[in-house]
Amino acid sequence: STDQLANIGVIGMAVMGSNLARNLAHHGHRVAVFNRTTARTDEMIAAHGSEGDFRPAAELADFVASLERPRRIIIMVKAGGPTDATIDALIPLLEPGDIVVDGGNAFFEDTRRREEKLRGAGLHFVGAGISGGEVGALEGPSIMPGGSKESYAALGPILESIAAQVDGEPCCTYIGTDGAGHFVKMVHNGIEYADMQFIGEAYELLKGLGLSHTEMADVFATWNTGDLDSYLIEITSEVLRKVDAATGKPLVEVIVDAAGMKGTGTWTVQSALNLGTPVSAIAEAVFARAISSSPDLRAASQAALAGPSGAIAVDDRAAFIDQIRQALWASKVVAYAQGLDEIRMGAADYGWDINVGEVAKIWRGGCIIRAKLLERIRSEYAAGSLTTLLEAPSVAKELAASQDAWRAVVAAAVTAGVPVPGFSSALAHYDQARAPRLNAALTQGLRDYFGAHTYRRVDKEGTFHTNWSTDG
Ligand code: NAP
Ligand code: ATR
Repeated sequence: STDQLANIGVIGMAVMGSNLARNLAHHGHRVAVFNRTTARTDEMIAAHGSEGDFRPAAELADFVASLERPRRIIIMVKAGGPTDATIDALIPLLEPGDIVVDGGNAFFEDTRRREEKLRGAGLHFVGAGISGGEVGALEGPSIMPGGSKESYAALGPILESIAAQVDGEPCCTYIGTDGAGHFVKMVHNGIEYADMQFIGEAYELLKGLGLSHTEMADVFATWNTGDLDSYLIEITSEVLRKVDAATGKPLVEVIVDAAGMKGTGTWTVQSALNLGTPVSAIAEAVFARAISSSPDLRAASQAALAGPSGAIAVDDRAAFIDQIRQALWASKVVAYAQGLDEIRMGAADYGWDINVGEVAKIWRGGCIIRAKLLERIRSEYAAGSLTTLLEAPSVAKELAASQDAWRAVVAAAVTAGVPVPGFSSALAHYDQARAPRLNAALTQGLRDYFGAHTYRRVDKEGTFHTNWSTDG
């Protein structure tokens, strides 16, 4: 009978897929599991088989046959070619109405392509961004599913049951058609890059003030009790407090200062460039990782370039530390605003009906960027329609209150030679966004001068061209 069949299947028993399968089983689901290499399935069942109702299969056809209809299958394999290979093997085994979910970190354009292909075969394809790393997958991730509304009716309740819960509500909601879920997950990662860059800048500034690592850890722990309350600030305190057993030094100081990246931050910026939406603070965070991982450029420049040491002299250290907190908070707000602007622009361009407030809501738990700020963002978007987060009444008011500190911190950093590309570009965005006039008028004049690109006037309709050397 139908009850005996599995109600959900997971393909890919590496860390993410096996943790997701366990999470499903912990919530009472009957979980079919499959992995290309059967030994991995066997290992998962040997280690965790007693945790719930698993239905392991060695053959993909048996896995498919073990699922009730419409079949719900989550693919959790290496993104890219392996995802396509898995989909291609599945298609001939499925029947119209079945739902294939890609829970990997796919690029949203790939998701759009796959969705179109499966739609043609009468299948539903759901690109689901799943955030929270391996712990999230096991204990409750934030889930961003995109695909047909119809498929969400069959799939949503299962995903909502395993998602993180905040204030009794699941961190999972229908995002929009085709690539919308993976697009939102991509922007989430871009915001995560910015958050981490800002934290890094605050750390450099606290170091410049001469704080010990224990003192810095205490500062972050204190910040975590206020508006900055967030997972990343919390773990920053723990990372700074860690002492390396081998050397007795703070562990962070024996870690090579070259940040890695897998590419989702880069995608966020590339997509923003295509959309023409300014995500400058996120871009600076990606470029900051790039320069950190450019050993030749750094070695050549270290040998050639002069400048101050990064030491910061202030009369009132406690007051300056609080200014750093305000600069960090304000910059963070700008990065979130930029990411949400990219979602709004992407939605308009790709025809997705995305509720930005709901996105903020499902980021409140289960993901790396979970933060108190997201509840504020959720409620501001719920209160009224916003073009950008920066115009939200409570946000604008606090940015106004923080801006003197923000400017003072950027100025002090520039004077001391502490690089703060994140803080300063976020501040520049704030000043650009609020400016009644931008220097773009001169840019237009120059473009018209050298390329007859024309310009518009403030005082009449139409497009104009000036012969700059002879007119007037
Ligand atoms: P992974 O290392 O990205 O992928 C390993 C899995 O992919 C294994 O099940 C492997 O099967 C399968 N695979 C590889 N090549 C294949 C092919 N050609 N055909 C079929 N299957 C193939 O695993 P992961 O770290 O658990 O991540 C899974 C997905 O989740 C990825 O898309 C990743 O980007 C995403 N994700 C990862 C994290 C994280 O924290 N790691 C967080 C969120 C999302 P075999 O055992 O047979 O090799
Ligand atoms: P989360 O939403 O929890 O951040 P994530 O985007 O998968 O989930 O990122 C979690 C970690 O997995 C990050 O360290 C990420 O690397 P980057 O910071 O360089 O982006 C890493 N990660 C993401 N995609 C990955 C992939 N395809 N393979 C391996 N690691 C990946």
